[in-house]
Amino acid sequence: MSGRSSRNTGPTRIEGRQEPLLSLRWSEGKLLMLDQRLLPEEIVFLELTAPEEVWEGIHAMKVRGAPAIGIAAAYGVVLGANSYQGDEDRWLEHVLSTAEYLATSRPTAVNLFWALDRMKERAEQLAAAQHSRELRDEGLLAEAIAIHREDEEVCRKIGEHALPLFTSGMGVLTHCNAGGLATARYGTALAPFYLAQEQGIELKIYADETRPVLQGARLTAFELQQAGIDVTLLCDNMAGLVMSKGWIDAVIVGTDRIAANGDVANKIGTYSLAVLAKAHNIPFYVASPLSTIDLGTESGELIPIEERAEHEVTEGFGKRTAPAGIKVYNPSFDVTPNHLVTAIITEKGIVKPPFRDHLAALFNDKDDSLKSF
Ligand code: MRU
Repeated sequence: MSGRSSRNTGPTRIEGRQEPLLSLRWSEGKLLMLDQRLLPEEIVFLELTAPEEVWEGIHAMKVRGAPAIGIAAAYGVVLGANSYQGDEDRWLEHVLSTAEYLATSRPTAVNLFWALDRMKERAEQLAAAQHSRELRDEGLLAEAIAIHREDEEVCRKIGEHALPLFTSGMGVLTHCNAGGLATARYGTALAPFYLAQEQGIELKIYADETRPVLQGARLTAFELQQAGIDVTLLCDNMAGLVMSKGWIDAVIVGTDRIAANGDVANKIGTYSLAVLAKAHNIPFYVASPLSTIDLGTESGELIPIEERAEHEVTEGFGKRTAPAGIKVYNPSFDVTPNHLVTAIITEKGIVKPPFRDHLAALFNDKDDSLKSF
């Protein structure tokens, strides 16, 4: 566990549904985390009280999806501060080291580092202001809650901006889960589907199963079906066929990190979809909060790509599906080059190529009104 002591008991489990079904909730000094590994069969919330439990939750993908892991990590910093019993003069050092520790939980989604940087900056301000211990801890909690609430607003705005791209009767393909479960609420790529439903726009959604961890089957199909949205599940290798049949009018995916030149890291298989979309002349949209755009990373090849355990590939369906001793390659993400991306939809508006210039303009623009870049 990355050099930190873990407690023996593990988090408390709370079974049963809560409405709406949110991946994270802060309640009475504890972080309630929906264990997404158990969906769609079981709805279990874990009550987390220590940063080590949050680290484990992110690392093991009990919580996953770029914005959600950033939010979880922010609360992890709060839990670390709340349980600190050392010298008051070393409070800041402790908070910063908790944030550094949480940053080791997963490498690709930049929202994790973005949220932790925000928490570190706030901790530095609170320490510099020489507030009481109580006020410093409260200040950190307020920052984590702000990160959480802002993400809900941001996702809704992404949905509003994306909605005009979709008209009734369109077939739309998505990959992985960039929905409510991956964010505070609504999702990024799935947000326009929820808004379309509110406005009576009927879309036909196709969800890729998304091997090896099956976020499309277990999470996207689940959350859209629960919401009463028309969703059809596909194995990943069916995308080309459904495109060739003319069933897909647009592809929309989320992202874990967008580089300054518009290259997009997202769940493994996204790149193949983008190539297929190009071959079939289908627009390929990426829904992304600003917190997922990393202007400090020049291009996609510099984005760290997580590789995960072999068993996700060889035993992904709960039984062994490959010979013992087989060599396995299991990158969790791939990079879609910018030339395959039609547009990036953000909370501030729609960004079109050339992405390097337009993404820079997006960040330089101080006016919050919706526009195209
Ligand atoms: O490995 P995961 O499930 O955390 O990967 C998630 C994705 O790739 C999502 O598509 C991405 O984070 C966007 S979530 C709004």
